[in-house]
Amino acid sequence: MGWNSWNAFSCAVTEEDIRSAADRLVETGLRDAGYEYLVVDDCWMDDELDDGYLRPHPEDFPSGIEALAEYVHDRDLKFGIYSSAGRVTCQGYPASLGHERKHARQFADWGVDYLKYDNCGDHEGKDALARYSAMGKALAKVDRDIVYSICEWGRNEPWRWGRNAGGHLWRATHDIVAKWSTEDTEFGLGIADIIDQMDDRDIAPSHGPGGWNDPDMLQIGNGPDSGQSKLEDVTVERGLTPAEERTHFSFWCLFAAPLMAGNDLVEMDDRTLALLTNEDAVAINQDPLGIQGTRDGRLGETEVWSKRLTDGRCAVILFNRGRTPATIETTVETVDMSVDAATYTVEDVWEDDEWQTSGTLHATVDPHDVALFRVSPE
Ligand code: GAL
Repeated sequence: MGWNSWNAFSCAVTEEDIRSAADRLVETGLRDAGYEYLVVDDCWMDDELDDGYLRPHPEDFPSGIEALAEYVHDRDLKFGIYSSAGRVTCQGYPASLGHERKHARQFADWGVDYLKYDNCGDHEGKDALARYSAMGKALAKVDRDIVYSICEWGRNEPWRWGRNAGGHLWRATHDIVAKWSTEDTEFGLGIADIIDQMDDRDIAPSHGPGGWNDPDMLQIGNGPDSGQSKLEDVTVERGLTPAEERTHFSFWCLFAAPLMAGNDLVEMDDRTLALLTNEDAVAINQDPLGIQGTRDGRLGETEVWSKRLTDGRCAVILFNRGRTPATIETTVETVDMSVDAATYTVEDVWEDDEWQTSGTLHATVDPHDVALFRVSPE
């Protein structure tokens, strides 16, 4: 769990934005809710390498990365940075292909705790496994624990080789945008598109402690242009409704996905904070079994999804993709509930309500919304 600069600041990010984000993670209670890693995405570096080494951008990051990492660590947060497994980053800055050992040592010396490693720039004819393993090996050699986040957009099925390349998480899908769904002609993927791909790709078996499928960062609290390169000419008209944001967060919790907030923390409203810090939803996300929830069934535009939890419990999503309210019903036999009981307690996470059932689970769900239950055998 953490926060990444890309969706809110894109290529305009400065060290001041990162310092404010660090302060806000603490002041708002996000850090204490679990959002621990603060990651600077693309565009922190200067236009040229210096003898093969990366240099911070002199105007946007004048104090340097080591000082910034120290500022972040002083607030009991972890510090992350970005590079690419190509000659340049997605925004055209120098990257790490061919310089893996130098850069890994540099990151370790600076106090970096997390590396997001992208897929842009000339690959010099090397395949993804070779390029990502080279950085994985370089990180393993340095005297510092660095979480290795592989970001090749799910293109080469990283769920098959990400662990072997030294990765701890890997993007399973293309870039997220703050929309419900996108047309082929638009940049990125909407929330509903990603939910579909996470299930269609059948990748849940490769997900678990130490190696996570990553459906990309959170777009909660963001406008519709968020997370898009400043170099792309895009026109977008819609963001997410409150129901769609709730659906987004509920699914990322059900997927046991990395939760990287991506909103401007200085401008954050109460609704966004309440969603990101809902204790029951975060507990479902952080459940120690680390299971990626999957779809149990579909009827028209309604769907039932579930995820097995510790202590014989189960998280259930009743999802309405349609445009009118729908009553959705399932049973404990249908969802991934490992324990039989005569009675089950159902906690409704978003309604903050609780009741008992002998096996039926149901709710009336608004369009593009979900009911999120935690079900416990008695
Ligand atoms: C994309 C990546 C985004 C962001 C961007 C920066 O490839 O998927 O999450 O890092 O590059 O340019």
